[in-house]
Amino acid sequence: MKKLITNGTIVTAADMYEADLLIEDGKIAAIGKNLGTGAEEVIDARGAYVFPGGIDPHTHLDMPFGGTVTSDDFETGTIAAAYGGTTSIIDFCLTNKGEPLKNAIQTWHEKSKSKAVIDYGFHLMISEVNEQVLEEIPLIIEEEGITSFKVFMAYKNVFQADDETLFRTLLTAKEHGALVMVHAENGDVIDFLVNKALKEGNTAPIYHALTRPPEVEGEATGRAAQLTGIAGSQLYVVHVSCAEAVEKIDEARKKGYQVWGETCPQYLVLDQSYLEKPNFEGAKYVWSPPLREKWNQEVLWNALKNGQLQTLGSDQCSFNFKGQKELGVGDFTKIPNGGPIIEDRFSLFFSEGVKKGRISINQFVDIVSTRIAKLFGLFPRKGTIAVGSDADIVIFDPNKERVISAETHHMNVDYSAFEGMKVTGEPISVLSRGEFVIREKEFVGKPGSGQYLKRARFGSQEKPAEKVR
Ligand code: URP
Ligand code: ZN
Ligand code: ZN
Repeated sequence: MKKLITNGTIVTAADMYEADLLIEDGKIAAIGKNLGTGAEEVIDARGAYVFPGGIDPHTHLDMPFGGTVTSDDFETGTIAAAYGGTTSIIDFCLTNKGEPLKNAIQTWHEKSKSKAVIDYGFHLMISEVNEQVLEEIPLIIEEEGITSFKVFMAYKNVFQADDETLFRTLLTAKEHGALVMVHAENGDVIDFLVNKALKEGNTAPIYHALTRPPEVEGEATGRAAQLTGIAGSQLYVVHVSCAEAVEKIDEARKKGYQVWGETCPQYLVLDQSYLEKPNFEGAKYVWSPPLREKWNQEVLWNALKNGQLQTLGSDQCSFNFKGQKELGVGDFTKIPNGGPIIEDRFSLFFSEGVKKGRISINQFVDIVSTRIAKLFGLFPRKGTIAVGSDADIVIFDPNKERVISAETHHMNVDYSAFEGMKVTGEPISVLSRGEFVIREKEFVGKPGSGQYLKRARFGSQEKPAEKVR
């Protein structure tokens, strides 16, 4: 079946031009003018941008965490993602110490395969490195196409790994062609500060932020970057929230280390004061790392603009306020960490970034799609509009205004972290491998139609476009 998208403005990380797009067998078959012959369906994109589908490199769907399970699974989470202009996600597969890594991967396949409506891959958590893990990693890279491994430097006694584990993961990743991702906060220092706060009777949500100061993020980021330098490996720092961490990434890149950084919409538009909302509502804004003092937002925007940070993830990790966030009433350490963002990442970033002149439209595409595809072994299949690429397309009205609200969003969660925020720009139709998932703002996809993404080894495809400084 051939489809033709006409009259739209195609935008990639490098270009912006008017052309028609011919889709055949799920791929982009031709780009140009007067391609109108033979298409069974013609889609008029007049006045709209035609973007490559967003890629969200950081999601936690159907994940046990904080004594509960995230409220969005692979069905509701990927439907919401599609509404928001995202056509691929890479979700974090949690592992259990002492168990074969392949068991965890099997569990994640079971959670996702009959539910996902868009394409999806997995990162794999590493919490220990022993002979069994060292044997399994190359097989997982080869057979599962999982080419990124996540190490937590925080969440003591839950996920936290020690420096030896991080270092050995970096060495293994270098040997086999994978990217190491870190949650960079100093978990030991946080644990000390948290216990002190509780002993002093400080139990409100704001103490979540006050016991995780920016210095603990800066310290862990710098440590991970230095270990990467020693290992000669490659590192991706997830959810960068503050100036201290940006400085460490920048410093490492200036030394020639292969280090990249991701931030998230919540750190660009929300701040620490939200944790002080009355009636325990501050719990809605509990993330790790925490929201920071407002001045950090400008630092993060500038870092995205000048290339010190390279990507935007959602860190989708939704918990209902009722019954889930409420687990932390009277003890902030029991508030499950995370929030619902998957649906808003793309349009919020367009509105706050492109519309407000903070980044160019090509940078927008690079940061929400292209660079992510390059770093995580999906390019050029995903992340761009080019002949031969998957027809993952977002037809986007750049002038449509709307107000974000839990009343209208599609995530399976009872609040929005961005409630009442006005955004300009909205996905109208979204195609995954040439099939509509969202058509004129209506979901028309099918659970189970999303395909599992085996990804290429780090560095085996086109290198990230920029030269590491
Ligand atoms: O608070 C957060 N970020 N929750 C999700 C888990 C993680 O650390 O990424
Ligand atoms: Zn994290
Ligand atoms: Zn996360």
